[in-house]
Amino acid sequence: MMKCDVVTLFPEMIHPVLAQSMLKRARDKGLLDVRVHDLRDFTEDKHRTADDHPYGGGAGMVLKPEPIFRAVDAIRAGGEPLRLILTSPQGRPFTQQLAFEFGGETRRLVFICGRYEGVDERVREGLDPEEVSIGDYVLTGGELPALVMIDAAVRWVPGVLGDPESAKEDSFAGTLLDYPHYTRPATVRGLAIPEVLTSGNHEAIRDWRRKQALLNTLKKRPDLLEKPGCTDEERKRLEELNSKRK
Ligand code: ADE
Repeated sequence: MMKCDVVTLFPEMIHPVLAQSMLKRARDKGLLDVRVHDLRDFTEDKHRTADDHPYGGGAGMVLKPEPIFRAVDAIRAGGEPLRLILTSPQGRPFTQQLAFEFGGETRRLVFICGRYEGVDERVREGLDPEEVSIGDYVLTGGELPALVMIDAAVRWVPGVLGDPESAKEDSFAGTLLDYPHYTRPATVRGLAIPEVLTSGNHEAIRDWRRKQALLNTLKKRPDLLEKPGCTDEERKRLEELNSKRK
């Protein structure tokens, strides 16, 4: 069971995504518990102001610190240990490794969704959250990043994917991209599936898939093959494939 909280100025960006597909199924099965907190519920003024103009001037709005502190206090009051995450393009890069870690985390994951203009710096000083980025581009806010991280993490919670092997076989689980997949019909618009897949020879299929995964990686993401973690067998097969290509 993965437990998380999303602290956001835009709860309506979060709810519909949680109500679909695998995230919905994971919640229905009791494998994912997500609570969404509206920052405006933690404001104290009549207008429920959760952001304000930056001191020193400049464009955009900055998320006010107190509503965030209060929201985290309220979550803390539940007594469970927490792991605080601040979504930010300045954060450490989110990877499959971190998705795996979040998926197995026993503490509640508290995602504090930043706004791209900024979050009052005292949130970092006061809460010392882990700052995590989903990539080197700037989004308008942290809602999509929080959902991306929850989605990638929940796949590692046992029981969420029908087949527990699925997550392990995916791209990035090792260092390789995935092999090509096919479903019915066997021929579409003159395009046939590779014969080996209907051969019933499981060893040949496994071999073919491994080779295709390597070729795919070589073609689309050769940088992944430079990384340590590529197994000796993968490296050897890669060299074979490479020499054949020349
Ligand atoms: N907020 C804005 N851009 C972001 C990014 N790339 N990752 C995480 N949070 C963000």
